[in-house]
Amino acid sequence: MIRLLSYIYPITKKVESKYNGTLEITWHNGKKHLNTKNANYSYGSLQKILKIGLQKIDLKNCDNILVLGLGAGSVIDTLINDLNYKNHITALDIDPVIIEIAEAEFNLCENKNLKIICDDAIHFMDNNKDMFDLTIVDLFIDTEVPSPFYNATFWEQIVKANSSKGSILFNASLQSSNDKTLSEITSFLSNKKYNTEQFNKVNGTNTLLIAKAHN
Ligand SMILES: C[S@@+](CC[C@H](N)C(=O)[O-])C[C@H]1O[C@@H](n2cnc3c(N)ncnc32)[C@H](O)[C@@H]1O
Repeated sequence: MIRLLSYIYPITKKVESKYNGTLEITWHNGKKHLNTKNANYSYGSLQKILKIGLQKIDLKNCDNILVLGLGAGSVIDTLINDLNYKNHITALDIDPVIIEIAEAEFNLCENKNLKIICDDAIHFMDNNKDMFDLTIVDLFIDTEVPSPFYNATFWEQIVKANSSKGSILFNASLQSSNDKTLSEITSFLSNKKYNTEQFNKVNGTNTLLIAKAHN
């Protein structure tokens, strides 16, 4: 019923979160999205942007994917249902309210191939011992990527946890005024033997950085 009504007008439920402010679960034109005050977090445009990035990565050699920034899990939906990925995913979010929404509103649940962790990505990467074939970095608070995720120490940890055949997909979403920061991350990755490619204004808005390890 809600789905049908949403073709006539959007229907929104609001939930408060300590980390992300007011979260909005909105039905619009038969589809459910997760938004913050100023940003689309899951499904909708964000899902299209990450899918464009994922289509540039060879998933055939991926056995283990790390998703930093679970949101409502739209990138997991893309991996499994659109790109037919069948192996393991570890997904992490700092916000327990977001994880609850992903499970209760977007039918995401842990299973033998999906592990969901509630933790700060910095703390998780500092303590992580696992290796991943693809790391998706999609960490935002509203429209901003928190500044620690532009630091070299964070990228050192990402590289350390990436297998020798591994790739990285970074939803950088930078304003052009921050181009210098992204080029620093790009040259850091190039020095660590990654081929990097930057895509600007993906789906009209976001900047994506894709890095692939080469030997
Ligand atoms: C755009 S959403 C992720 C969307 C998700 N990748 C998807 O495909 O639906 C960004 C997420 O980053 C999370 N986040 C922000 N800072 C974080 C941190 N320090 N550690 C872990 N998660 C964080 C937010 O709680 C939010 O859920």
